[in-house]
Amino acid sequence: MAERSLPRRRVLAGLVALPLGAALARLAPARALPRTLAPTPACDDDPTPKQTEGPYWTAESPQKNDFTGDGAPGERMTLTGTVVDTACRPIAGALLDFWQCDGNGVYDNEGFKLRGHQYTDANGAYRLTTVKPGLYPGRTRHFHVKVRPPGGEVLTTQLYFPGEPANQADGIYRPELEMTIVDNGDATFTFVVDK
Ligand SMILES: [Fe+2]
Repeated sequence: MAERSLPRRRVLAGLVALPLGAALARLAPARALPRTLAPTPACDDDPTPKQTEGPYWTAESPQKNDFTGDGAPGERMTLTGTVVDTACRPIAGALLDFWQCDGNGVYDNEGFKLRGHQYTDANGAYRLTTVKPGLYPGRTRHFHVKVRPPGGEVLTTQLYFPGEPANQADGIYRPELEMTIVDNGDATFTFVVDK
């Protein structure tokens, strides 16, 4: 039976059980509702914050998106994500240069273990297979990265692990730079850069 053919008494009785907002929405004619909702942003469109490079970056890293062949100790994990502009549009061909310490908190400052650069694909996506960085004195667990869109400026920053006990004691840590942990301890992060 269609609702409009219900006796008015029953319709009103049904409305009493609804929260006020829902009851009003039922009474309002359909044409009073907005035709389209405001678009939901595809990403958080605040640019990714810059952070210090620190003392351990080495120029001219090899092109490499799998660090597990470097033989560095640590628990294997994958970091994936996308580089987008401030309008949330994916950026193809963006450079990402990652460097990190091994699972024991040690950097390779002589060679290029756990150091490498790669470029985003046509969808703005990147993928790094690596080991989980350890802790070293004064620092919580983190990745370092430089991101540069084609023809754009370099964004130097760091990424952090959520729920890490040492985060709060690290003066460089920022919650906006936390990755999202997905299955099996793998992580994801979207970089938002000015293009
Ligand atoms: Fe570091």
